[in-house]
Amino acid sequence: MRKVTLGLVGGGTVGGGVYQAIKKNGALMGSRLGVQLTIAKIAVRKLKKARAVKMPASILTSNWRDVVDDPAIEVVVELMGGVKLAREVVRAALENGKSVVTANKALLAAHGEELFQIAGKYGVNLYYEASVAGGIPIIKVLREALIGNRISSIYGILNGTCNYILTRMSREPIEFNAVLKQAQELGYAEAEPSLDVDGFDAAHKTGILASLAYGFWVDQHDVHVEGIRGLSRLDIGFADQLGYVIKLLGVIKQDPEKPRRSGQGFQPIQASVYPALIPKSHVLANINGVFNAVFVRGDIVGDTLYCGHGAGQDATASAVLSDIGDAALDLKWETSNRIPPFVPHERSGAVRPMDEVVSRYYVRLNVMDKPGVFARISAILADAGIGISSIIQPEGHGGRVVPVILMIYDAANKRMGDALKTIAKLDAVKGKPVMIRVEQFDPNE
Ligand SMILES: NC(=O)c1ccc[n+]([C@@H]2O[C@H](COP(=O)([O-])OP(=O)(O)OC[C@H]3O[C@@H](n4cnc5c(N)ncnc54)[C@H](OP(=O)(O)O)[C@@H]3O)[C@@H](O)[C@H]2O)c1
Repeated sequence: MRKVTLGLVGGGTVGGGVYQAIKKNGALMGSRLGVQLTIAKIAVRKLKKARAVKMPASILTSNWRDVVDDPAIEVVVELMGGVKLAREVVRAALENGKSVVTANKALLAAHGEELFQIAGKYGVNLYYEASVAGGIPIIKVLREALIGNRISSIYGILNGTCNYILTRMSREPIEFNAVLKQAQELGYAEAEPSLDVDGFDAAHKTGILASLAYGFWVDQHDVHVEGIRGLSRLDIGFADQLGYVIKLLGVIKQDPEKPRRSGQGFQPIQASVYPALIPKSHVLANINGVFNAVFVRGDIVGDTLYCGHGAGQDATASAVLSDIGDAALDLKWETSNRIPPFVPHERSGAVRPMDEVVSRYYVRLNVMDKPGVFARISAILADAGIGISSIIQPEGHGGRVVPVILMIYDAANKRMGDALKTIAKLDAVKGKPVMIRVEQFDPNE
């Protein structure tokens, strides 16, 4: 049997999970693949640290170079996190002719393009299944199972912390800050929650999925990001009355019908993260708590849904093992080209600026309850060419200032934003208008 020797850089939550999983199922996996897997070294920061997962002292090192420069190690598994040093580690491993497995979405979002180029130059591979949606094998789905499809849209619930917070807010009379505090106490949210609740983590994953689906590396700065900090229970409640739930979604779309930009052979894609109203009847509306899910629409397969644990020791380790299996098969068959993890095939790929992206909207205004106000608001929207599909004045909100909900037909984001700025200036409109996009998952979208 072909022996495959692995080295891990990082032995924390995921690294410990990978060590444990290989101990438990490494022989089974090896017999399925026809290889014998061994972990030769694990680099950690502090050798003396007490660890929930026990690892033999003989294979621990505090110098990552011991892993990356060891000629016996053929596959390096980067599970240290962070960007700067992780980039150095991954580069060094690739340049030493070793394939790399990583779970590091922040690293890929920032330096993916460069690292894939280096991997190609040295004839090795960079695998990243665990970087998006933890245990859900969505990378493998896009790069293998759906390889014969043009992808028209991907909608992902990609951050378990946000989904947990929104699920709690939709079920209990509790506001964002209170749930966040409880989520931190339960270990579902980091002490510094910004990466999650402000949408950046989901944006990293959205960029990776978009790159894979459309064949050009999406610059993370081109992914429009809005988080969930500004959401209130009031809007979650109104959405519920209207038949919707609110989820933080990674949204990736390409409209194949619209005319192509002149001189470009590629229709720009939407790549964005924002809270969105989704109909309760849609499967994604029922993905709750810390679960993640990815809904992919392909032109041949139709609609597909993938759901599971988006993080956590075992789920993430499972994804890393899948990549280790691929890297091991490359070595067994002496190829780096079975199905490369990322193939840049769309030279004129581009992300559509958010201002130009067309969406539907839920808008809540706080307005003085007096005649003529609706007429003025409708006129501003009509002048901007924006259509209202319904106006709802929810009952039970008596007083001088009342909430009014407008459901808006398709309109470009800039046009909608500008119209709301004008509306906000009306004397009768109090406070900042709330605007949340609505996703309907129309079959012809
Ligand atoms: N946790 C999850 O559920 C999850 C899910 C999906 C993806 N990921 C990704 O997986 C990666 C690892 O996350 P994690 O949660 O396992 O992090 P973690 O628990 O903080 O573990 C990081 C590991 O890296 C080691 N390390 C840090 N700096 C090092 C250095 N300079 N040299 C050698 N070792 C060093 C640490 O050593 P010590 O143990 O000595 O501190 C620790 O073992 C991240 O990129 C993360 O985004 C995590």
